[in-house]
Amino acid sequence: MILDIINKKRLGKELTYQELDTIFNGYLEGEVLDYQMSSLLMAICINGMSDEEIFALTKIFIDSGDVLDFSMIDGVKVDKHSTGGIGDKTTLVIAPIVASLGIPVIKMSGRGLGYTGGTIDKLESIPGYRINLKEGEILKQLQDIQIVITGQTASLVPMDKAIYALRDVTATVSSIPLIASSIMSKKIAGGADKILIDIKVGRGALLQTKQDAKELSDLMIRIGKFYQREVRTIISDMNVPLGRAIGNSLEVQEAIDVLKGEETDNEFVRLCFDLASEMVSMGKNISKEEAYEQVVECVKNGSAYQKFLDLVAHQKGDLTKMKISSKTKTIEAKSSGIIKKIDALEVGKLALSLGTGKETLDDTIDHSVGIYLNKLVGDKVKKGDVLATIYIGKKEPSISYDSIFTIDV
Ligand code: URA
Repeated sequence: MILDIINKKRLGKELTYQELDTIFNGYLEGEVLDYQMSSLLMAICINGMSDEEIFALTKIFIDSGDVLDFSMIDGVKVDKHSTGGIGDKTTLVIAPIVASLGIPVIKMSGRGLGYTGGTIDKLESIPGYRINLKEGEILKQLQDIQIVITGQTASLVPMDKAIYALRDVTATVSSIPLIASSIMSKKIAGGADKILIDIKVGRGALLQTKQDAKELSDLMIRIGKFYQREVRTIISDMNVPLGRAIGNSLEVQEAIDVLKGEETDNEFVRLCFDLASEMVSMGKNISKEEAYEQVVECVKNGSAYQKFLDLVAHQKGDLTKMKISSKTKTIEAKSSGIIKKIDALEVGKLALSLGTGKETLDDTIDHSVGIYLNKLVGDKVKKGDVLATIYIGKKEPSISYDSIFTIDV
C-alpha cells in the first residue's frame, strides 16, 4: 500500500486525500519509515502537486495537532510569516508597531534553519526572555498588552516539525507545495484571521527566482481562499542581507534602533514599514497609505518602542544583560569606489561559522557574535574604510570573507 502510494506520485499522478492521510499520518505514528517518506517527498519535489492535493495536505497538517482559538480577543488577528533570510529581524520591529496601533499580535516564531536565523533564537539573546508560554499565558498577555512573541507549542502542527526535519536533510526544502502547506497550516492552526507572507527570493533564500516566488505567492493566496483567510504577500530581495546586523544580540539591538527612530533610511527599515503597513491595513480595513502614516507616527511618538519594552518585560527578559562580544575584527575596503554587492549567502556562512546558529544538532548558539555591516550597497567608500565589523566569541571565523563585498571602482 505505502509502496503503491509512493509509486503513484513517482509517476506524476494525483494522490487522494485518503492516500495522503495514510502515508503522512503513518509517518507521524512511526509506521512509515524515514526512507519511505523521503522518497515520497522527493517525488513531490520533482512532480509537484495539484491544488486539491495541497489543500488536502494542509488539512492533514492542521489536524495533526491543536488548533488555537483567539476569537475571545477583540480585533482582527493578523499574522505574518517570512520564508527566511539572512539578517531578517523584521518581526521584532513590526510586531510592536502593529500592536501599538491597537491590533492584537500573536506571533509564534521558529528557530533558525541553515544559514537563516530564527526569531526565537534572537529573542533568547535577551537573558530571561521566556519563549515557551502556555496557551493560558498567551491569552492573559494578549488581554494585558496585545502582543506576544513566543515559540511554537509542541502541539501546534507536529506533522510540520517531523516533515520539516526530514526535508532539511533530503534536499526537499525548496518544494513550493511543501513550503506552502508547511507555512499555511501553522498560520491557520495558530488562530490567524488574516495572514501576511514575506516571500524572500535570492541567494540567501530558499527560493532563487522571482518566478518561483510568484508561484508560491499565488498558491498561498489560493490556500487562503480555500480556508477563508485573507492572504497578502510581499516578495522581497534576499541577495543582500537585510539591514546591518547579522547575529542574535546584534539584530535585537538593530531592531531597537529602528523602533527608537534612530535608523531610518535603509532597505530593512523600508521593508519593516511596508510589512507593518500591510498588516495594519488588513487589521483595520483601511488603505495601505493611511496605515503607513500611522506606522510612521507610532515610531516617531515612541509608542512602538514602548510596546517592545512592555513585551520584553512581560516575558521576563532583561535587556540590560544582553551581551555583544567585545572581541572584534574588521573587513576593510581593498579599493575605493561604490559598494555594488554584499553577498547574503557568504555573510550567512560567515555568521554561522562564528556560532550565530547551529551547524549540527548538538551545537550551542553564541548570542553575542555576528557581523555588523558598517557600509551598505550604494555607499561610497575609500580604500581602507571599515566595511564590516565581525564580533567573535569562542569560534574564530573559519571561512574567507574576501568575496562578501563587491566594489565598483
Ligand atoms: N518556512 C516554513 O515554515 N516552512 C517551510 O517549508 C519553509 C519556510
